[in-house]
Amino acid sequence: MREKKPRRSQQSYGATDKNGFIHRSWMKSQGLPDDVFDGRPVIGICNTWSELTPCNTGLRAIADHVKRGVWESGGLPLEFPVMSLGETQMRPTAMLFRNLLSMDVEESLRGNPIDGVVLLGGCDKTTPGQLMGAASVDLPTLVVSAGPMLNGKFRGRNLGSGTDVWKFSEAVRAGTLSPCEFAAAERGMSRSVGTCMTMGSASTMACLVEAMGVALPFNGTAPAVDAQRALIAHESGRLIVELVRRDLRLSQLLTRTAFENAIRVLAAIGGSTNAVLHLLAIAGRLGVNLSLQDFDTLSENVPLLVDLQPSGRFLMEEFHYAGGLPALMRQLAPLLAPAAPAAATTVIEGHYRDAECHDPEVVRPLDRPVKPASGIWVLRGNLCPSGAVMKPSAASPELFQHRGTAVVFESIEDLHARIDAADLAVDENSILVLKGCGPRGYPGMPEVGNLPLPRKLLERGVLDMLRLSDARMSGTAFGSVILHVAPEAAAGGPLAVVRDGDEIVFDGPGRRLDLLISEQEMATRLAAWRATAAPQRGYARLYVERVLQADQGCDFDFLVGGSGSDVLRESH
Ligand code: FES
Repeated sequence: MREKKPRRSQQSYGATDKNGFIHRSWMKSQGLPDDVFDGRPVIGICNTWSELTPCNTGLRAIADHVKRGVWESGGLPLEFPVMSLGETQMRPTAMLFRNLLSMDVEESLRGNPIDGVVLLGGCDKTTPGQLMGAASVDLPTLVVSAGPMLNGKFRGRNLGSGTDVWKFSEAVRAGTLSPCEFAAAERGMSRSVGTCMTMGSASTMACLVEAMGVALPFNGTAPAVDAQRALIAHESGRLIVELVRRDLRLSQLLTRTAFENAIRVLAAIGGSTNAVLHLLAIAGRLGVNLSLQDFDTLSENVPLLVDLQPSGRFLMEEFHYAGGLPALMRQLAPLLAPAAPAAATTVIEGHYRDAECHDPEVVRPLDRPVKPASGIWVLRGNLCPSGAVMKPSAASPELFQHRGTAVVFESIEDLHARIDAADLAVDENSILVLKGCGPRGYPGMPEVGNLPLPRKLLERGVLDMLRLSDARMSGTAFGSVILHVAPEAAAGGPLAVVRDGDEIVFDGPGRRLDLLISEQEMATRLAAWRATAAPQRGYARLYVERVLQADQGCDFDFLVGGSGSDVLRESH
């Protein structure tokens, strides 16, 4: 019979020799008494609080609420910082650093005497980056999210984070909104701490961790400044101590079934396409067999049930007051696996079995969806041999099948320089094509896939066009955009050789995306393609050399899988 190892923390704090002295003595500089090293669970509180990540600035107070719960349950809470990724502040794009955050989390957890961890994240890349790192260590783990900010307000109406920025900036370019009004809207959009209050990437990921049972019910929707957020933090502090005592690890929660539920919830909430990349990367760390195709297959019959921006009308406050994710999951119950594991309730059904819906306009029943087409379309064809994605709930149905000629931009700079040119050869049937914005090309795969429409078309009242690129799109954005084309242009994918005037055929229901040139012509063009210079030093070089393509979640090839939680050797 295998001998049960002492807890990780006891392998440092339980020793009576010189090493035990060193581990404990310096910790006592914080005023900790002798008996907190008596073998109780040591809980890491992994915090992405930063004033450079405004969405996460509530997490300093949230950490204190987690600590209360940990103390109360007989654990020792120890908070520590990790790299924070502010979506609206970091250049060239926060996504470039998601894998770096994951490495910070992984090594901080493995290197320290921690038995379980509560991850405090919120802004888009912080949740997946933390979970990827935690998955590679596989301790008992819970997530407490920052929570969405209050609804934006402007002249008596609600404003949605991001979604209304895209609308207003196009209105300024079309001449229907003045720069003065635009500036006034800026002051009304962000009224409290918290993440974007549309169904952007942050809210999507906060809902999905709840749906997968690694966060408490209502983690996804309770406003950042609602007392319920502090309550969730407090109860998570209690629960993580219990999970350590039961040795219930992250890999026992994040099973293939949990991911399947998450993909169906993603479709029903009209969640961000970024979740595709993040779920693939998290699954890769855990050895869960999840593929890009799963997102299409599993969400095929799931309609849009939550009427939230950018796919619908309302904001996260209304979603929460309508009953939050538990209400949504109850409506979706016939399509969910109820026995998937959950930290708080053993099985996920416990999250939603008794949930009530208080506003059927916001959270719809299955037989009265907001839109019948939701989820993620995964496209195949000679333009995207490894796949591409589209979010039909945010697109125009009249463009679900479209044939048009390509108007090609070789880079984001090329786009900015020419998109508003009066002589740009474009009309509403054209297909805008953007290259050089994939994981390697930018590098970091920025959220520029919802390319702005040409000014001359905006002035004629054109509101949507088919656009395609190897970029991502903000979860708060909308439009008929094909994203994540793989392989990307910078990796020599067929996207690299599309030329102005080429014909492209898109068939959403048929899941096809094809460039109408002969195989011979494609081969000739690809043979003539040459890669551009890559970064020569630093993290950007590592990133470009080792990042996987979008269909594999953009993790680093050497980070896939995990290295476990064995305590490492002493340095003293
Ligand atoms: Fe941080 Fe949207 S910018 S959540």
